[in-house]
Amino acid sequence: MRLYLLPLAFISSIASANTCEVAVSSNDSWAYDTKTISVPANCEEFTVNFKHNGKLSKEGLGHNWVLAKTADVNAIAQDGGTQGLENNFLKQGDDRIIAHTPIIGGGESASTTFKVSALDAKENYTFFCSFPGHTFMMRGTLKIAE
Ligand code: CO
Repeated sequence: MRLYLLPLAFISSIASANTCEVAVSSNDSWAYDTKTISVPANCEEFTVNFKHNGKLSKEGLGHNWVLAKTADVNAIAQDGGTQGLENNFLKQGDDRIIAHTPIIGGGESASTTFKVSALDAKENYTFFCSFPGHTFMMRGTLKIAE
């Protein structure tokens, strides 16, 4: 029995650690490689590891990963558009923003972690890039998986 139980416990601990994070990337275009992110409800925290695989600078074609309720996305992007790269094109102290990485350029990466208990399984969440002109095309859906 012990021989069976030990490997199972080991495998399940690896699986639960892996599912509380996700890798998302982009390149020198206006798209993420991921359209949908599913967050397991039993994760305490969830981490997004975001990478820009392109070559262009963050001034030229930077990207970030921002999470908000779908209904708030357009207003957050509009308010952030005038805030400049130094503010990651986000209004400072905007409490509609659930999580965000900084704007990064080609070859760079950044992570953000948020508490899963702050999310509602019945709510619609969208992740998007707040770089001006990107928000319409660079977006995807995030949901809590029951
Ligand atoms: Co972008």
